[in-house]
Amino acid sequence: MEELLKLKEHDEARQGEAYAPFAMDPNHYKKHFYIESYGCQMNFSDSEIVASILNQHGFGATRNVEEADLVLLNTCSIREKAEQTVRRRLGDFQQVKQSKPGLLIGVLGCMAERLKSKFLEEEKLVDMVVGPDAYRSLPALIEEAETGQKAVNVLLSRDETYADISPVRLDSNGVSAFVSIMRGCNNMCAFCVVPFTRGRERSRDALSIVAECQNLFERGFKEVTLLGQNVDSYYYVSDSNEVVNFAQLLERVALISPELRIRFSTSHPKDITDDVLHTMAKYENICKYIHLPVQSGSTRILQLMNRTYTREWYMAKVDRIREIMPDCGISSDIIAGFCTETEEDHQDTLSIMDHSKYDMSYMFFYSERPGTLAQRRYKDDIPDEVKKRRLQEIVDKQGKLSFASNKQDLGKTFKVLIEGNSKKSDKDWMGRNSQNKVIVFSKDETNLKKGDYAFVTVTDCTQATLIGKLISQ
Ligand code: SAH
Ligand code: SF4
Ligand code: F3S
Repeated sequence: MEELLKLKEHDEARQGEAYAPFAMDPNHYKKHFYIESYGCQMNFSDSEIVASILNQHGFGATRNVEEADLVLLNTCSIREKAEQTVRRRLGDFQQVKQSKPGLLIGVLGCMAERLKSKFLEEEKLVDMVVGPDAYRSLPALIEEAETGQKAVNVLLSRDETYADISPVRLDSNGVSAFVSIMRGCNNMCAFCVVPFTRGRERSRDALSIVAECQNLFERGFKEVTLLGQNVDSYYYVSDSNEVVNFAQLLERVALISPELRIRFSTSHPKDITDDVLHTMAKYENICKYIHLPVQSGSTRILQLMNRTYTREWYMAKVDRIREIMPDCGISSDIIAGFCTETEEDHQDTLSIMDHSKYDMSYMFFYSERPGTLAQRRYKDDIPDEVKKRRLQEIVDKQGKLSFASNKQDLGKTFKVLIEGNSKKSDKDWMGRNSQNKVIVFSKDETNLKKGDYAFVTVTDCTQATLIGKLISQ
């Protein structure tokens, strides 16, 4: 049981984020839900919308599964491994349900959308299957499930953005928050299941985004991350026909306060504009960091992947970023062993990494997903051991690049937003610089606190972390 109660770090992108108990009073609610989120930041952000909807209907959040009347898994389908993790976790909950027969178990998110009611046949203990655009119907589905029926809603929407729902921050460190600005994806990258699980792209009302960020700032948050699968194609047309594009949205959020940091993710290389880069350069509080997934360094593979850019085009985009913002951090997503990938294609990936000098990358081997263009059109023909060897070479290369990038920072001073205690010692703070690098430094008996900015000079580093010394408050 202990294992069930532990908060696990499911998502690489959130590692280093501190866990804090809920701010809300758990006794206020008669019923409780327990939620676990898997996959990307959008899914974590959706869980906060789900929490808000459930609070409105009398369910409080709990971190104690034994106290829960409802267990929810917000799932991810991006790779086969992600789905296996969820199935294993459902196995764990089997035991909990046996000791508590009235307990309802719901599957939310991308795996719910992909498998739909098939999920109920495959996993008998599941009572509810709810897709990412159907969370408003959760209270009705819970009522249905409470009568002993299985409840399913996996309808995708063309306009749902949950714009009017004020998310309840779960596991928040009180310093940084995710804000969804759009949903779905209109790209059709051949390997990717997201367009099928999340539906068509739609942008959220700009006013509601700015209002949410303003409210977070007023509550003491110091950093917002604007989220979407492809943020640079954000495009909102108001009722009065006013158009807001991503550069304009960034500017509006940046103007809330110079004390509020703005990040965003993810940028598709084909959509990020000079306008966005100039807006980033103009405002100190827009962080100088771009997650710009390359996927592969080979033009032939990029074409098969339907990424719509070439190797040269991508490299020119990286050069442009460095020209406009020489101090900008850049990270990437890379897939090893996509269909038909040759050693030469793989070498192209390694060399584009050298050219881009990524500070960090998320690296995966190709996992065929049912229903995607690649699954229908191409053969998953690279043997597992070749995929793994290539991935290892990519990981090794990234290790060297990250270390080199960190060494370049030795002696430099950065403005750091303190996120909390360092993982290793409560005598040290952990924070990030604008480039999204983690910096650990001694508290030095100052009266700084979580959420403060500090100026820190880098004195040492590892591959993953900068180590620094406080210079002023
Ligand atoms: N919208 C983002 C990415 C979302 S998915 C973008 O366009 O970049 C996050 C990452 O998972 C992708 O960038 C890709 O590198 C990886 N990924 C997606 N599908 C995959 C698959 N079938 N096998 C392996 N990795 C995959
Ligand atoms: Fe998937 Fe491509 Fe859309 Fe990203 S841009 S979510 S990789 S289809
Ligand atoms: Fe996974 Fe869905 Fe996100 S497939 S990566 S949770 S959009």
